[in-house]
Amino acid sequence: MSNPFFDLSGRVAVVTGASRGLGQYFGRALARAGADLIITSRTLDSLKPFQREIEALGRNAVPLELDVRDHASIQRMAGQAAKAYPKIDILVNNAGCNVRKPALEISWDEWNLVLDTNLRGTFFVAQAIARQMIPRGYGRIINIGSVTSVFGYAGLTPYTASRGGVKQMSMSLADDWGKHGITVNCLAPGWFRTEQNKVLYENQEWYEYICDRIPLRRPGAPNDLDGAVVFLASEESRYITGQTLLVDGGISTGATRATVAKK
Ligand SMILES: NC(=O)c1ccc[n+]([C@@H]2O[C@H](COP(=O)([O-])OP(=O)(O)OC[C@H]3O[C@@H](n4cnc5c(N)ncnc54)[C@H](OP(=O)(O)O)[C@@H]3O)[C@@H](O)[C@H]2O)c1
Repeated sequence: MSNPFFDLSGRVAVVTGASRGLGQYFGRALARAGADLIITSRTLDSLKPFQREIEALGRNAVPLELDVRDHASIQRMAGQAAKAYPKIDILVNNAGCNVRKPALEISWDEWNLVLDTNLRGTFFVAQAIARQMIPRGYGRIINIGSVTSVFGYAGLTPYTASRGGVKQMSMSLADDWGKHGITVNCLAPGWFRTEQNKVLYENQEWYEYICDRIPLRRPGAPNDLDGAVVFLASEESRYITGQTLLVDGGISTGATRATVAKK
């Protein structure tokens, strides 16, 4: 018997930043639950392998170019998405970047790069897609935050500022668009190995340190986010909005455990 819960058949999801990493984890999970996709990157060619993978699952994946730092590019993507499908049900606002440096070394341009991409870009993509959801009175917007949406990290100041902003912004958008049948939540992953942070994982000392701080004693695996993204995208999350769901092996609760235990 098929499970009536969490079925995304007939749904269409936009997943930004789907050329690699978490964007592909999210897209794969949604497609496996039955959704067709719009996948984006600044470079269309980089989406081809993932498009083929989704099509092999029996779902459609329309690749579109998007630079979230460029307002015209966001509007163009939203227009092309509207032509590709008669409706958009789900947005996974995932495109993002990071600059890892001590706070005293962050330049003006580096601050702008991270904030423009992660916060301004996330807002204007949500706005452009919400304009298509509002007339239909239905939408699931999932803004990708991070454990740094709820606590700080030395060396990640612009990033944590942007991720804290995504959490707060999700609450305001939830309040604004709830009357249109749109839920807006923030999905906040902990540590997952991707292109963005792979240098850290090559450092054995860091790896042991981070595992020690995670109550479940390991970084996230690719499919650890599947349940959360499908849940927030599905009908079953219909009465949940403005929330931040941490998928982090518990690091947000046990962040100081190792330090305290040593005392
Ligand atoms: N990995 C983790 O442990 C972790 C934890 C918490 C949160 N996150 C967040 O989750 C998201 C994905 O992370 P990831 O680790 O998968 O990163 P990643 O491997 O570096 O991938 C980032 C994605 O964002 C896209 N992107 C970057 N700048 C963009 C721009 N200006 N316009 C449009 N797309 C842009 C990239 O696409 P193109 O380069 O192809 O354009 C790429 O697909 C990010 O927002 C990240 O901050 C990651």
